[in-house]
Amino acid sequence: MSKTPNKNWRPATTLVHGGTLRSQYGEMSEAIYLTQGFTYDSSEAAEARFKGENDGYIYARYGSPTNDMFEKRMCALEGAEEARATASGMAAITAALLCQLKAGDHIVAARALFGSCRWVVETLAPRYGIECTLVDGRYLENWEKAIQPNTKVFFLESPTNPTLEVIDIAGVAKLANQVGARVVVDNVFATPLFQKPLELGAHVVVYSATKHIDGQGRSLAGVILSDKEWVTEHLQDYYRHTGPAMSPFTAWTLIKGLETLPIRVKQQTENATRIAEFLADQGKIAKVIYPGRKDHPQADIIAKQMTGGSTLVAFEMKGGKEAAFKLQNALDVVTISNNLGDTRSIITHPATTTHKNLTDEARAELGISPGTVRFSAGIEDVDDLLEDFAQALAKVSA
Ligand SMILES: Cc1ncc(COP(=O)(O)O)c(C=O)c1O
Repeated sequence: MSKTPNKNWRPATTLVHGGTLRSQYGEMSEAIYLTQGFTYDSSEAAEARFKGENDGYIYARYGSPTNDMFEKRMCALEGAEEARATASGMAAITAALLCQLKAGDHIVAARALFGSCRWVVETLAPRYGIECTLVDGRYLENWEKAIQPNTKVFFLESPTNPTLEVIDIAGVAKLANQVGARVVVDNVFATPLFQKPLELGAHVVVYSATKHIDGQGRSLAGVILSDKEWVTEHLQDYYRHTGPAMSPFTAWTLIKGLETLPIRVKQQTENATRIAEFLADQGKIAKVIYPGRKDHPQADIIAKQMTGGSTLVAFEMKGGKEAAFKLQNALDVVTISNNLGDTRSIITHPATTTHKNLTDEARAELGISPGTVRFSAGIEDVDDLLEDFAQALAKVSA
């Protein structure tokens, strides 16, 4: 028995009920079908399944029931027709790009990308004859100027990691449509609740589900979402034959994660907003960047394309790396790590961790200074977080 998501359901309802496939046992919680493959009642049934003449699963690398539930729930949330679950966010991004590109094609990508994404477009893709131009994605004219006759894909993340710059997705999609290119959006920082790239004109959305979707530090996971035509024409064979499929056990953790996603993201955003307000008033901090604040440099685009602020705050310590390290080391409730979107609050120093592979110049271009710190709000009591920041800042010399 399956629970087909109702189009009129609001996200919180869809995320509890959407996509559930109940077995003959009528289990309450979704079952984990931890199987490599499937059996057939007869040779004829196997033949028909392989010919695509009857519905059903063939092999877990192609698809399986627990993954199917996760994919259907994600489709209902995102407004997509099809989804494919992958073993990590990077598997999703690599598949979403490479499945639709070939030697001689060209990508235009925003330079403010997560480090591994930059490696894929700058280092891996050229090995296969796919060229890439990186642009400052905040300005539409840069996307337009970078277009070549062979441009096939525009790739961006918004807000960006770690400096929370915002890119006008509808504007980029309009340019892409004029030249028949497709827009792939890494929507991790916005979460599926605060930004709908497909509604803004993007063609493909990717997530590291490791972040808010699991949100409890358990799973490494990703997902690709788009329309049926794109998945059938470009992704399906790539996905089936190169093998980035997610484990059904991971899919189950994500199904459970989706059930509480709205509650967690709401609390994380409230906490992030309060922490951003607090940090903005501190003399030891040079600047705070938070998409929920009126002083965000691109507040106009945020108002146009996002329905919520962010669970992340970026800020710059006046005392550079030394002050940033002192602050991080002095925090007690907040944990030093490089994940984000977790129930636990996390603090990261991008220049020495997530973005350490970039050159000093590339980091400076992205606004990542030695004093830049990224805070990912958890769901703890905000007063404990505020007290934690206050005591830690007091230990940093002015
Ligand atoms: C914006 C962004 N995209 C993609 C990824 C990669 O995801 P994963 O670690 O699940 O492969 C990350 C991970 O930090 C990220 O922050």
